[in-house]
Amino acid sequence: MSSSAASHPTVQGHPSSAPDPEMATLYGAPTDTAAVSPTTPTLTATVPAPRPRRRTTVRDLAAWKDRHEKWAMLTAYDYTTASVFDEAEVPVLLVGDSAANVVYGYDTTVPVSVDELLPLVRAVVRGAPHAMVVADLPFGSYQASPAQAMETATRFLKDGGAQAVKLEGGARVAPQIELLVSAGVPVMGHLGLTPQSINTIGGYRVQGREDAGAALLADALALEAAGAFAVVLEVVPSDVAARISKALTIPTVGIGAGVDCDAQVLVWQDMAGLTSGRAPRFVRRFADLRTPLRNAARAYVADVRDGHYPTVEYSYD
Ligand code: KIV
Repeated sequence: MSSSAASHPTVQGHPSSAPDPEMATLYGAPTDTAAVSPTTPTLTATVPAPRPRRRTTVRDLAAWKDRHEKWAMLTAYDYTTASVFDEAEVPVLLVGDSAANVVYGYDTTVPVSVDELLPLVRAVVRGAPHAMVVADLPFGSYQASPAQAMETATRFLKDGGAQAVKLEGGARVAPQIELLVSAGVPVMGHLGLTPQSINTIGGYRVQGREDAGAALLADALALEAAGAFAVVLEVVPSDVAARISKALTIPTVGIGAGVDCDAQVLVWQDMAGLTSGRAPRFVRRFADLRTPLRNAARAYVADVRDGHYPTVEYSYD
């Protein structure tokens, strides 16, 4: 952490850029930035003032790319886990259409609808006051036209409270991105293995090998030119992801895309070891939550069955 960090609000674990006077006065909204102005007197000289955090913005992500600072994105789908991840200073939370699989139990992401994702977005926004919340536009909610994309994004920002949206596809969705960005909607792109196209891709396999690498780079450049603020690269060869990350001025967010992306994303149940079975090669399980959770549930069932819970200390007079 830089030495200047102590006098500036942190952005989810990153030392922030210098306080932005424009942000502090936007529509008179008080911001944490104002609260930690370097000129604010502290009560004691020995106890460092707490460093308030503010919500991550697209400008922060651009600054981190410039400074070669890597950052992490996690999926989130509910209030409680969003609040845990916000406490953990995860700077960006994605309400992914992977909710189709891990929340709703569909086989693919194709069936999940805006109506199913919208309540999850609201819950995550309530749980995460500091993370940028990105809402995934599900299959069929943006491909038809820029106007359709605008209508869907409006629901996620106005009714859901998200700060940005994500959509899948290359140059084909550039008109959608252009309209959204011109209307004030930050857009994250998604290239490589795009699960909404599973029926044309024909399986969850590496994308962008050999000649397809050049096409992937062209698509990434098209997304950047259209105004996307970041682009997810899913399951693409490391050298292709490295070339794209170098060519773009916006951050790349890798998932199975090697070590050279500017950021990483994982589905949180994969990250925490809650999912069962064999994980894809790119997944590292940072915990094994499935075992203790199952054991806790088993212990609860047994204690209720055997009369060990509840006991008097859990009862009211
Ligand atoms: O829906 C999702 O979770 C995603 C990430 C895996 C990038 O799109």
